[in-house]
Amino acid sequence: MIRLFVNVDHVATLRQARGTVEPDPLAAALLAERAGADGITVHLREDRRHIQDRDVDRIRKGIKTQLNLEMAAVEEMVRIALDTKPEQVSLVPEKRQEITTEGGLNVRSQKEHLLGIADRLKPVGIRFSLFVDPDLEQIEAARQIGADSVEINTGIYTETKEPEALQRELDKIRAAARHGAGLGLRVFAGHGLTRENVVAIAAIPEIEELNIGHSLIARAVYSGLEKSVKDMLQAMEQGARMRKT
Ligand code: PXP
Repeated sequence: MIRLFVNVDHVATLRQARGTVEPDPLAAALLAERAGADGITVHLREDRRHIQDRDVDRIRKGIKTQLNLEMAAVEEMVRIALDTKPEQVSLVPEKRQEITTEGGLNVRSQKEHLLGIADRLKPVGIRFSLFVDPDLEQIEAARQIGADSVEINTGIYTETKEPEALQRELDKIRAAARHGAGLGLRVFAGHGLTRENVVAIAAIPEIEELNIGHSLIARAVYSGLEKSVKDMLQAMEQGARMRKT
């Protein structure tokens, strides 16, 4: 069955807006688990704009499922990952000015650097994932440096409205997922997914795991986080039932 990792960064964004103690990303993570989430994702950004080091530590100790630590491919974060020992690290490109992660990693242009990070994380049992655009060459490069998985960026798909362009984006994601799985990579996806647009993504047979944050937290404002997570799981199941294999 397709797994859901709930990204709780946006809970921390709201807390940081007031510099207070609530809402608490750990409390949100526990509610997400109770609603059926398979894991929790946090992005510890270099500028610490939402998740703080203390959040990572508390969530690591407090959750019963798995922690996926999203981070930039920099020495400071590698050290934090080695200390924290999440089940999985997902490397993402990071720019200070961006509102959210804007695209996939350029794996091809920094193979040596990323290989150096993989060689430090994998021996201590941390699974190593790379966030990439639906680009076959980037996926091949991820395989070459020994990534366990790729997370395919669904950002452009989720922003596209025009039906033909949308179909093209979906086809790109399908081809990328097939290619990744064919190379022996586990295939995940995420960015901009909502209860509506997730169905077609969950229907792609090779996709095992989704990382979803903003829409879940946004809808939790109306209906509570548990209901928001449950509704998303239901939409994912609806998609997964459409799989042909
Ligand atoms: N995957 C990656 C690599 C991300 O950076 C993000 C955003 O933090 C997500 C998934 C989740 O995206 P969204 O918040 O749009 O659901």
